[in-house]
Amino acid sequence: MRKLQNLFLLFLIFAHPSQILAKGKRRKCSNDSLSEGAIMAKLMNNYTKMLPDAEDSVMVNVEIHVQDMGSLNEISSDFEIDILFTQLWHDPALSFAAYPACKRNITMEPRLLPQIWSPNTCMINSKKTHVHASPSENVMVILYENGTVWVNHRLAVKAPCNLDLRQFPFDVQTCILIFESYSHNSEEVELHWMEEAVTLMNQIQLPDFDMVGFNTSKANLLYPNGFWDQLTVTFTFKRRYGFYIIQAYVPTYLTIIVSWVSFCMEPKALPARTTVGISSLLALTFQFGNILKNLPRVSYVKAMDVWMLGCISFVFATMIELAFVCYISRCQNSVRNAERRRERMRNSQVWANGSCRTTRTNGYANGSVISHYNPINNGNGNLNGNGQLRNETPVVTHRNNSFSRHNGPPSPLNLQMTTFDSEIPLTFDQLRPETPEPRSGCMARFHPEAIDKFSIVAFPLAFTIFNLIYWNYYLSQTFDQTFEQVFKK
Ligand SMILES: *[C@@H]1O[C@H](CO)[C@@H](O)[C@H](O)[C@H]1NC(C)=O
Ligand SMILES: *[C@@H]1O[C@H](CO)[C@@H](O)[C@H](O)[C@H]1NC(C)=O
Ligand SMILES: *[C@@H]1O[C@H](CO)[C@@H](O)[C@H](O)[C@H]1NC(C)=O
Ligand SMILES: *[C@@H]1O[C@H](CO)[C@@H](O)[C@H](O)[C@H]1NC(C)=O
Ligand SMILES: *[C@@H]1O[C@H](CO)[C@@H](O)[C@H](O)[C@H]1NC(C)=O
Repeated sequence: MRKLQNLFLLFLIFAHPSQILAKGKRRKCSNDSLSEGAIMAKLMNNYTKMLPDAEDSVMVNVEIHVQDMGSLNEISSDFEIDILFTQLWHDPALSFAAYPACKRNITMEPRLLPQIWSPNTCMINSKKTHVHASPSENVMVILYENGTVWVNHRLAVKAPCNLDLRQFPFDVQTCILIFESYSHNSEEVELHWMEEAVTLMNQIQLPDFDMVGFNTSKANLLYPNGFWDQLTVTFTFKRRYGFYIIQAYVPTYLTIIVSWVSFCMEPKALPARTTVGISSLLALTFQFGNILKNLPRVSYVKAMDVWMLGCISFVFATMIELAFVCYISRCQNSVRNAERRRERMRNSQVWANGSCRTTRTNGYANGSVISHYNPINNGNGNLNGNGQLRNETPVVTHRNNSFSRHNGPPSPLNLQMTTFDSEIPLTFDQLRPETPEPRSGCMARFHPEAIDKFSIVAFPLAFTIFNLIYWNYYLSQTFDQTFEQVFKK
């Protein structure tokens, strides 16, 4: 469709109505009137290329018609635009009113353009400009009877943008085209915007930007060699942030929520909780990197940075919470175990004294070892604690007494096993600390489960507050900017 439009436009440029009409009119022209070629030849014969001889400066009227806009590139901070650039000035030396011509205007050959004076208007800030040639240069020159010259170029321009990514991805970018006469200051050439300075062929929509408006202005700048007229057109683009909502904000919400799952796990599930935390952290980091990949490395803080770093901090905080819970439960366990061990030591000493006495008196310790290896006996000892074990011992030793007479003398191995055996309930106890015991030191006020319960409320709450502040701050700024742009126009 765009192509067809372009073709039609080209057709308009090359087959201007004046030409078509002129063809019909030419036949009606009186025989003594000159043809266009003859007029041009006569004009050019008596023409020196110089600043039009006038009291005032030459008024050059400028107008652009935006045909299309290419991508706005953040990395190189520029945009591409196709424009039909029109300049209109009056050069009395080119007036052919005195000649017997039946036409009010002549469409000149573009090759004659370098031979006539031109204000040399240029886009002073463009990075790259070329005249479309499809297939020959798209230039139109019309000369009016009174000497007014109308020049139109179809240009592809790459021009800079004032990239400000502070609000990214809710940012509004402005791109500017600046027109100046390259060779004449404002004493010789005055630049003006035409009444309708900028016109659009159709609504401009880039893949990730909408053009919200444009603004033209005129300035008079002081250069070392005088004042120069400058015309500026500013295009304002608003980023379509839908992409970033889908690709950045929604996934981070999900990641953050997933990181809270670890609060629901018991404090002992350390590997699972670590995995959840670390993978959330990694997911966020990769997402962040992916988005920043397509942006220039600016040193200020973007809205996206605030968001991503905020989210990463939240996941980081869950890891800190995990470390805290882990530390507390480990510390409190070790205190509890130390207490138990002390108690156990006391008990086993009591027991050892008693049994040793009996074994010594009987001369055997063998039977007691066997009874300790009895699984039922062992289990009872673990579950009920030391008292049970202690109660059991005298029975065992009693039984031993009867056995002892038939068995051999006590071996050192058996004695060793007795002492080893008494250690077993201790290590098993370490794994199951179900009885809350008085904890001294190690922040005894905190209970790991309670910290998790607190976090499962506090984290979402803090995240909600972060969200409120974030969205309130950035969205209000964006809307202010947009309203400004739209309503000032
Ligand atoms: C122009 O001249 C031709 C002959 O040279 C003549 O036939 C014709 O009628 C003339 N036309 C006009 C409009 O005078
Ligand atoms: C050339 O221009 C001058 C001044 O503009 C004029 O007086 C003169 O008649 C012109 N000559 C021709 C041959 O047109
Ligand atoms: C050129 O002049 C003809 C009449 O001679 C007029 O119809 C046409 O609109 C003019 N073209 C321009 C571009 O002004
Ligand atoms: C010259 O003629 C054109 C077309 O008729 C008109 O638009 C323009 O204002 C005229 N210029 C001057 C200086 O009279
Ligand atoms: C247009 O540009 C002028 C000059 O730069 C500025 O003062 C004005 O606020 C701008 N208007 C809009 C709508 O941006």
